[in-house]
Amino acid sequence: MLVEECMQVHPRKFIDYDICVMATYTYGSNGALPEEAEDFYFDLEKIYLTGKIFGVLGSGDRIYEKFCPAVDDFDKQFEKTHTTRGAEALKINLSPNEMDKENIKQFAEYLVAAYSKTLGH
Ligand SMILES: Cc1cc2nc3c(=O)[nH]c(=O)nc-3n(C[C@H](O)[C@H](O)[C@H](O)COP(=O)(O)O)c2cc1C
Repeated sequence: MLVEECMQVHPRKFIDYDICVMATYTYGSNGALPEEAEDFYFDLEKIYLTGKIFGVLGSGDRIYEKFCPAVDDFDKQFEKTHTTRGAEALKINLSPNEMDKENIKQFAEYLVAAYSKTLGH
């Protein structure tokens, strides 16, 4: 497993892995992508991740009009890479509580199960 900051890595690094996960917060005047995730976001649509599994999760704050829109943006962006969604996008309000932690665990399990399926298990 490799964990990288999106500012430090090009999304083509995903090509070396079977399961690709993006975790992002939302930060901006109008629910925009975090500025530091923009290059990664636009480079992502230029690569093919056929045969791989992806999942997107992230944090936000329900006080804002749009809750975690950057999570939805990345979830859609991955579709352009011809990869397969292994888990529904997961949104977390502020810091994860106990239920969020369970959901994260389940999110990870879904990704692994989806990957196992590609191996025919
Ligand atoms: C300027 C600013 C804009 C934000 N805009 C949104 C937003 O549009 N939607 C949302 O769900 N959260 C928004 N957030 C909340 C952050 O995503 C939230 O603080 C973060 O996910 C929780 O992580 P933290 O505990 O590190 O703050 C915004 C936060 C800031 C400071």
